[in-house]
This record gives sequence, structure tokens and C-alpha cells, in this order.
Amino acid sequence: MTKQERYEALYKQAQALLADEADEIARMANLSALLHAETGFWWTGFYRVDDKELVLGPFQGPVACTRIPFGRGVCGTAWSEKRTIVVPDVEQFKGHIACSSESRSEIVIPLWSHGEIRGVLDIDSRELDSFDETDRVWLERLAALIYSPLKDIWFAAGCFWGAQKFFKQIDGVEFTEVGFANGNVPHPSYKQVYTDTTGHAECVHVRYNPERVSLERLAGLYFKIIDPLSLNKQGEDEGTRYRTGIYYQDDTDFDVLKKVFSEVKKQLGVEEMPVELLRLNCFYPAEEYHQDYLDKNPTGYCHLSPEVFKLAKD
Ligand code: SME
Repeated sequence: MTKQERYEALYKQAQALLADEADEIARMANLSALLHAETGFWWTGFYRVDDKELVLGPFQGPVACTRIPFGRGVCGTAWSEKRTIVVPDVEQFKGHIACSSESRSEIVIPLWSHGEIRGVLDIDSRELDSFDETDRVWLERLAALIYSPLKDIWFAAGCFWGAQKFFKQIDGVEFTEVGFANGNVPHPSYKQVYTDTTGHAECVHVRYNPERVSLERLAGLYFKIIDPLSLNKQGEDEGTRYRTGIYYQDDTDFDVLKKVFSEVKKQLGVEEMPVELLRLNCFYPAEEYHQDYLDKNPTGYCHLSPEVFKLAKD
């Protein structure tokens, strides 16, 4: 079994385990037990937000620090920076809080609920460099089960600057991140991808709350911002890195997307269109300056028209 397959099975188990219980402590207790048993890491547990601090929640493993201030340690930093933090070597992380001298690498994932962080999932390993992209993606999905089972989908729509600005405005979208999908080189830089030789597509990772916005709706909106008949060219941007496509991780998404694709083809009166519909093979976040680029640079280049942003907001 590959790591991906192991996580898929674990995710299904976790979904079943949490299905009938609404109490968050009970959910955290069982999810930490399941994760700990299945992954074999050194410490697996939750901290919950209590005013300006994180307070220790259900966990498996040796005794741990009970309170961590906002912005302190890996846990407090994941909370203040509102993002997952992967620490390949805890000794290299300034401010790491050593609850146990055995811990060598760590991953901390914020727990979102209604646009706020309510806690974190913290996993420690006795080995260096234990957590990679596959762990990050799947542990984020598993952690999201505590408060709301958020779902993930990846859209390649030409230049990712405008595409991120578009998707982040949609109600029900909880998180977006731009990066490079389905290429052949691990951890590519923007510059490398720009040579059009790495095989990646510029892509927006969209994490959404399916209770508030459906995949069908997101895919429908996606087709409003691309030219679905244009191969490897959107706006002024040309190259395979600007190809279009929707990439999924959850196989049940395929049928929903297939239906949307069929409807679009019918409307256009075509049998085929050069928009990929594939499983996500890999996704590497782009450098920080590309994240929310058009918020940071409001006059920056964008191939999308102002009207489409209005559409996303409405
Ligand atoms: N190392 C964490 C503290 C929690 S323990 O690892 C369980 C941190 O730096 O936040």
C-alpha cells in the first residue's frame, strides 16, 4: 500500500468513527487514538484555543505542556499564522517548545470552524523530516473532520494570481493557496515552472465547506473564468503551465465533475475540450510572494475581467 492509499483508508475509518458523535472532546479523543495507532508517531494530540492560549486537549503519547501562548512554539505559530507548519528538524525552529526531548520533527495543523481557528492538531515524530506533502494534505483533511469536514479541489485556470482572487471571494471557500500541480519535479520554484519543462500547471488549491458551497457550483464558476476551448493559453499567458484543468483527490468528486464537463461541452456544441479532469498527483505551494498576489499588488497583472470578480462575490 502506498502512503496515499493508507491515508485514504484512514480517512474513511475516521469519517465512520466520528459520524455519530457531536461532542468535540470525544471526537478529538478518538481521532487522536486512531491517528496515533495507525501512523505510529511519537505524540499525537490536540490543543484547543482558550482565550489567548492553547490548552492541552485529548492526546496519545507522553505527558505534554498544558498551555501554549498565541504565537509561541510551533503550535502557537500555526495558530497566529493561520497555516500548517511542518518542522523537519525541531532544533532548527526558533521558539520550538520541547515538551519531550525525544521529538525530532513535527507538524501542526490549525483547526478551522466558521472562519476561525479553534485549536490545532499536533503530531511529533522521533525521526527527523517525517512529514511531507502527502502527510500535510491528508492530515489537514483529517484534522478538518473535528469541526467541519472541509473538502479540497484544485483548479488550473491560467495565471494563478487572478484565479486565487476569484475563488477566495466565493462564499463557502475557507482557504486558498496557489501552487504547482501534476508535474514531474518535486518542490519546483516559480522560475523552474516558468521554463515550461517541469510539467506542472499553475493551480489554485481551494478548500471549501460543502455545506455552504457545492463542488458543482465551484466547477460551474470555474468555467466562467476560463476559455475552455483554448489549449495551453489563457489571456496573454501561453505554455503548458497555463493549461486548464480540475484535479480532485476524492474519487467521488469525479462523477460530479464529469457531469459539469458534459454540460459545458453540450452548451459549447463540442465533443471534446482541452480542459483536464484528473486525479491530483502532486501539489506544491508557490513561494509566499505569489500567495494572495493581487491583494498585495492591486495593480498587478490579471488576465481576468473585473466582472468575473463581482460574480464570485455575489
Ligand atoms: N512542540 C510544540 C509543543 C507541543 S508538544 O510538541 C506536544 C510547540 O513547539 O508548539
